[in-house]
Amino acid sequence: MPEISALIKKRISCRTYALQPLNEEILQKFASIVTKEHAGPFGNKPLFRLINPDISSPEEWKNTGTYGVIKNARLFLAGKIKKADNAVVDYGYCMETLILQATALGLGTCWLAGTFNASGFAKVINRSDDELLPAVSPIGYPTDQKSFMEKIFRRFAGSNFRKPWPEMFFAGDFTTPLTEEQAGKYAEALENVRLAPSASNKQPWRIVLDNTGNSFHFYLDRAFGYTLREVPIQDLDMGIAMNHFEYTAKEIGISGSWKISENPPKKNSLDYMVSWQENF
Ligand SMILES: Cc1cc2nc3c(=O)[nH]c(=O)nc-3n(C[C@H](O)[C@H](O)[C@H](O)COP(=O)(O)O)c2cc1C
Repeated sequence: MPEISALIKKRISCRTYALQPLNEEILQKFASIVTKEHAGPFGNKPLFRLINPDISSPEEWKNTGTYGVIKNARLFLAGKIKKADNAVVDYGYCMETLILQATALGLGTCWLAGTFNASGFAKVINRSDDELLPAVSPIGYPTDQKSFMEKIFRRFAGSNFRKPWPEMFFAGDFTTPLTEEQAGKYAEALENVRLAPSASNKQPWRIVLDNTGNSFHFYLDRAFGYTLREVPIQDLDMGIAMNHFEYTAKEIGISGSWKISENPPKKNSLDYMVSWQENF
């Protein structure tokens, strides 16, 4: 199994953390990945930082940074990005790499785009008016126990369930479901999109394999009310899906590039976002 598939399967939202501080070596390793330069497929460049609320945060949100949804987190991954077209998609794409790297280091994470104190985090990370702070994640050692709040959250979002292939992946147009057999060498990349995390587990991705057999068109089935603080939250879901698709393809030796297609299949209820085309 490609390594990325193992990490994607291992990752799960963790909302209850152990009290023990991070091993210094692991922390340094992760910190060096976080502070590197990052760029998404649309060319936007987010900046990420690790924030320790114990020492770096204003008093008013030390205890209320996540409204009680996250327990015992001693460290947070947070970031910002300049407002621009597809900036939030790029933020999602880049942050998912960090989430999977944290998973590889044995650390727990949880994407938070709603239940965190955005203004508190904005202060700590010096967000300016032309920047967005789309999401953060706690970072720490997971515990086996789940808090009552966490159980409610998972049940409410249906977090243990994922939509089956025929609801998300199509061949040629939106009326014909794509089978795993038809997907062939791409099946694993699509499966890794299906297993991705998404806001409220809405799984808003719809993907059409076009008739050439080597171009995939990506769409969002947007839900009402998913723009918060100027951030289209489901664009983060799109970035996460692009990340899983591209890196899985790369790891199994398929190279391709992202482009905006001139004439993608259309469906009224869906937003066309981007296409992935295999390079020959
Ligand atoms: C973009 C995005 C935003 C999210 N925002 C929140 C949030 O504000 N609070 C929260 O507790 N979980 C949040 N989640 C976690 C999802 O609820 C979770 O990924 C989904 O239910 C699937 O569960 P899993 O991550 O354990 O596979 C978010 C996930 C994503 C991808």
